[in-house]
Amino acid sequence: MTEASPPTAAPADQYTEWARLRADQPISRDPEGPWRVARYDDVRHVLKTHVDFSSVVSERMSEDPDSVPTMLFTDPPGHDRMRALVSRAFTPRQVAAQSEQIAARCRSLMADFASDEQADLVTSFAAPLPVGVIATMLGVEDGDFVQFKRWSDAIFSNIGDILLATPSEASVEAGEEMSAYFLERIAELRRAPRQHLLSDLIQVETDQGRLSDGELLMFCFLLLIAGNETTTSLIVGCTRVFHDMPELFDRLKRSRREVPDFIEETLRFHSPFKVTLRRAARDLELAGQEIAKGDLLLPMIASANRDERVFVGADRFIADRSPNAHLAFGLGIHSCLGATLARLEGRIAVESMLDHLNGIELVDPTDPALDAFGAPNSIAVRLERAA
Ligand code: HEM
Repeated sequence: MTEASPPTAAPADQYTEWARLRADQPISRDPEGPWRVARYDDVRHVLKTHVDFSSVVSERMSEDPDSVPTMLFTDPPGHDRMRALVSRAFTPRQVAAQSEQIAARCRSLMADFASDEQADLVTSFAAPLPVGVIATMLGVEDGDFVQFKRWSDAIFSNIGDILLATPSEASVEAGEEMSAYFLERIAELRRAPRQHLLSDLIQVETDQGRLSDGELLMFCFLLLIAGNETTTSLIVGCTRVFHDMPELFDRLKRSRREVPDFIEETLRFHSPFKVTLRRAARDLELAGQEIAKGDLLLPMIASANRDERVFVGADRFIADRSPNAHLAFGLGIHSCLGATLARLEGRIAVESMLDHLNGIELVDPTDPALDAFGAPNSIAVRLERAA
């Protein structure tokens, strides 16, 4: 096993706090707040036991008669139906077919990104890559790309309020514009199918029926919400590791077959989807703590992934860690539908860095944006371009 302790990997404050919770208060909450679930076994149990821990977390959305809930926030049987239909189009073959467009996108972004000694990792590479990949899968034409990115940014930046409070005017407007855009595309594709994921989704028919326009629209939104910022965070996480362990960058440059294990350990160590949300479906007990029906819970995936009860040297980045049963993609009926795509994008993005660069470092490794809840909007990096 190759092991290293990155010099700047002194756990950020939140990791120190989570370690304290795992040790002393594995299930805890602030008065009236949601229950924080800190240990691996408990997070795993909550994610797996959908009968007790419901994904219908948003009262606002479940009360809105016009809204089709996204599958991420739906329980069976509605969830089973949507997952079965969507999985028919979102197959490993459909994902593998994206390799070429991902690699081409990386090459084209790298041409700009790697042209200076200093650049913005997020705006020039880590954010446009996943948005572009999803846009292509949804058949967004090149000319519509800028507005697609604008809608996606407006929705992302307000996601907490969209789910749990009152969404901002800007995000409502972006949502309406995007809905109108995709409803038009869906109508066109029903008449003249094309070769991309959205068109395939429209064609899927099983004993579960077909996806309605509302469900298709919901799925376009879900891909944006679930697939973009997380993948951006993964690329930022990989770059943080390269900053901390430049010798690992050199090693991967010589040995590309080690990249997949490196991606897995980055998913564990810098988990992009830090915390998710559930609601207790009945009065129950979790690890000795009584939880009342209706209470919200926060299964803290990033904390579970650093649980020293499960991972040897949990606060050390071990590039070829094995086994590595991290929970970065969740577990159970809602486990990440895009995990294969995210791994593929992560691998190709890292390979592209290894191809074009001799090294990459953060300008400010203490930037609080690195440990914020979502992906950062901007991270300055210094690059050493490959000859
Ligand atoms: C590194 C990148 C990613 C990470 C860490 C990640 C993580 C997750 C996690 C933890 C969940 C489960 C949440 C829960 O149970 O509450 C989830 C669900 C989901 N993810 Fe991802 N995700 C990533 C990328 C993607 C991509 C690229 C896509 C698609 C383009 C995607 C699509 C989805 C969908 C559709 C769901 C909902 C599945 C369901 O409810 O049945 N994700 N993701």
